[in-house]
Amino acid sequence: MNRIDQNLFEIILKNFKEAVIFADAQERIQIFNLIAENYFQIREKHVLGKRLERAIPYKNIKKHFDFVYEKRESNHDVELAIHVLHGSPEGEGTRILHCSFYPIFDKKEASFLGCLATFADVTEKGLLLREISKSRDLSTIGMLARWMAHEIRNPLSSLNINIELLREELGGEIQLSQKEEIHSLINFISYETLRLENNLKEFLDFNRLPPLKFEWVQLNEVLDSVVRLLRPDAQIKNARVETHFQKKLPMLKIDVSQFNLAISNLLINSIQAVSEKGEIYLFTRGSKKNIFIIIQDNGIGISKEHLPKIFDFMFSTKPMGSGLGLSIAKKIVSDHHGEIDVKSEVNRGSTFKIRIPLSPKGN
Ligand SMILES: Nc1ncnc2c1ncn2[C@@H]1O[C@H](COP(=O)(O)OP(=O)(O)OP(=O)(O)O)[C@@H](O)[C@H]1O
Ligand SMILES: [Mg+2]
Repeated sequence: MNRIDQNLFEIILKNFKEAVIFADAQERIQIFNLIAENYFQIREKHVLGKRLERAIPYKNIKKHFDFVYEKRESNHDVELAIHVLHGSPEGEGTRILHCSFYPIFDKKEASFLGCLATFADVTEKGLLLREISKSRDLSTIGMLARWMAHEIRNPLSSLNINIELLREELGGEIQLSQKEEIHSLINFISYETLRLENNLKEFLDFNRLPPLKFEWVQLNEVLDSVVRLLRPDAQIKNARVETHFQKKLPMLKIDVSQFNLAISNLLINSIQAVSEKGEIYLFTRGSKKNIFIIIQDNGIGISKEHLPKIFDFMFSTKPMGSGLGLSIAKKIVSDHHGEIDVKSEVNRGSTFKIRIPLSPKGN
């Protein structure tokens, strides 16, 4: 590199808004810019010439460097969560870094020179997006809950009144003329009970979810964005989320925001179901008539007894679960004329398979 190049190169690195690390073919650090010093709380002079693991004590980041050293292929736009220690300008806590890793080759000799990595802190952006999706979730739940309270409170109070009346009637001596009265009260109670049941059914239909807004999309891109949003949750649990998408899937007409909600409900369940060494796979496959989305985890699995109930409204085995995730997902998938199927084995894991027909008539 001549002197002008060198100068220019240093200025660019210094002013670059992202952390930049370059480690040579022997995995020794040769470039560690100012932002990298900030993110990783290590001074450049302490790491130059040292091996990578000395500078970056984060296994999840090291893994991506290893990938480049092994495969000599780049890996773009990965989102990784790291726990930043006390002393960083942003304070202690989990930060989300948007990272890219590139193999660098000598142009003339085509020999491998090392790995260049860039890191941008997207914690705020990530949190904002997550807040938005959470609030969308919450507003759906809140809206449904308000509606349920309203629709169910009325029949419940009239049921109560009628049961009280019945109790009074039965308390005294029953004469023949009162029998008719008791009959009509019982009829009324069973009518109101039926009404409650119907209300619940209607509730299950989520007739009050916002109307669907369909658009043509590349499904893999939509799924990628959902995975990106949830990857930090998986990392906090040390779980791996891998996507294996079929290339060149046909375009699909969906309501993106509702579809996101359905897929994230399934992925969140998988993340909650796995423990250490958790592995979650998201596949897409296309056939002539359908597109399949498969979400597979090696988590706790679902017992035979629970399996038929998991899509039921408000069925949950979790202490803090509301039991809405899967029923909402099922409703959204059926609004797209598709269906969800599940296979699960306790302590082995679960596989959810969504089928969406390419043309709504083709199901
Ligand atoms: N991937 C999975 N692994 C193991 N169990 C699962 C999985 N997905 C769903 N379940 C089971 O199905 C139940 C219902 O799931 P659902 O998403 O509807 O509700 P939840 O996760 O309990 O609560 P919410 O999603 O409303 O926070 C869960 O409580 C759990 O028992
Ligand atoms: Mg759930």
